[in-house]
Amino acid sequence: MPLRSLHAAAVLLLVVLKEQPSSPAPLNGSKWTYIGPDGEKSWSKTYPSCGGLLQSPIDLHNDILRYNASLGPLAFQGYNQSASPQFVLTNNGHSVKVKLPKDMQVRGLGARYNASQLHLHWGDKNDPHGSEHTVGGKHFAAELHIVYYNSDRYPNDSVAKDKPEGLAVVAVLIEVGSSNPAYDKIFDHLKAVKYKEVFIPGFSIEELLPERPEEYYRYRGSLTTPPCYPTVLWTVFRNPVQISQEQLMKLETDLYCTHMDDPSPREMVNNFRQVQKFDERLVYVSFQQGKEMWCVGSVVPRCLFRMKSGALPLGIVTHALRRWVKSTLAAMGARCVRSY
Ligand SMILES: *[C@@H]1O[C@H](CO)[C@@H](O)[C@H](O)[C@H]1NC(C)=O
Ligand SMILES: *[C@@H]1O[C@H](CO)[C@@H](O)[C@H](O)[C@H]1NC(C)=O
Ligand SMILES: *[C@@H]1O[C@H](CO)[C@@H](O)[C@H](O)[C@H]1NC(C)=O
Ligand SMILES: *[C@@H]1O[C@H](CO)[C@@H](O)[C@H](O)[C@H]1NC(C)=O
Ligand SMILES: *[C@@H]1O[C@H](CO)[C@@H](O)[C@H](O)[C@H]1NC(C)=O
Repeated sequence: MPLRSLHAAAVLLLVVLKEQPSSPAPLNGSKWTYIGPDGEKSWSKTYPSCGGLLQSPIDLHNDILRYNASLGPLAFQGYNQSASPQFVLTNNGHSVKVKLPKDMQVRGLGARYNASQLHLHWGDKNDPHGSEHTVGGKHFAAELHIVYYNSDRYPNDSVAKDKPEGLAVVAVLIEVGSSNPAYDKIFDHLKAVKYKEVFIPGFSIEELLPERPEEYYRYRGSLTTPPCYPTVLWTVFRNPVQISQEQLMKLETDLYCTHMDDPSPREMVNNFRQVQKFDERLVYVSFQQGKEMWCVGSVVPRCLFRMKSGALPLGIVTHALRRWVKSTLAAMGARCVRSY
């Protein structure tokens, strides 16, 4: 008898020890984080792909961009979901995620891709620059990812995620500007998933997309979180959407990485991966740059040509043209035209 109770006590002790990890455990499972000893520099120890090929996110800058006329517009099917059936909104300890119905699909990527989930990446209130992809080295405030799996080849996302051509992600860059009611359909429920998951009314996912979705960047890359499988066909829309300062603040302050009863709670902030090396690869773009000018400044507008770095002769021609236009405009004190 005493032996048995000793045994029981030992088991109990083990259970207690197991249930109370010394460092705050992220919600439901995996131990990886964005900072600290389990931060992104350590990911590849447990998840080898994170230190491997074709990693995402990347910086989208002129030197690596190539216009490709065969990149047509994507078609979004089943995006306009009604309020019921509801979506499941989850705090998975790394981000906030909405499970998407399988009848939502994107066409125009070759194979058929059905939706799996969407989630966001963001910064913190003191440094609100938490997009994963950067454009010309510049972070946006946040980034939305809509994740799909190749439903021509695979039965679901868990089978597809480590397979060739398995996944496609459509990314929306988010900047601060005017308020965006579509995003409130997620943000209004963040407090309810501070530490867990809830049902929320369905809504039209298409309303989360930016203007002119036919203009995008396209490249082959990876999941931006462990296990970082290099199986993702990326589409990053050229044009950002705007959300208000107040909306961004909700995203940056409403969620926690830790469980409700954790003695040392950690806010869910800065959940974005650093941009990865992008050697000897190209990003295809569906839009032609160099046709429009962007004006900044107020008194004397400074005009910048955004141009495609195409073949060298074209580069020289456009460079000369840019100089000529700049000097002519400066001489005339002309207004800049934004053409598209
Ligand atoms: C354009 O993209 C298609 C695939 O979308 C690819 O097969 C083709 O090689 C690309 N063209 C150029 C000129 O890079
Ligand atoms: C989505 O569907 C609803 C009715 O089901 C309709 O009122 C609304 O206009 C649709 N929205 C879009 C963007 O198509
Ligand atoms: C993908 O979506 C289509 C259209 O809604 C549906 O018919 C098909 O069953 C879905 N595929 C899978 C594997 O769920
Ligand atoms: C995905 O499909 C496989 C094979 O059909 C199945 O064994 C697995 O349970 C499915 N996973 C989920 C999460 O539905
Ligand atoms: C963790 O996952 C389990 C099963 O998947 C679920 O029942 C539980 O609610 C989740 N817990 C949290 C805090 O999300």
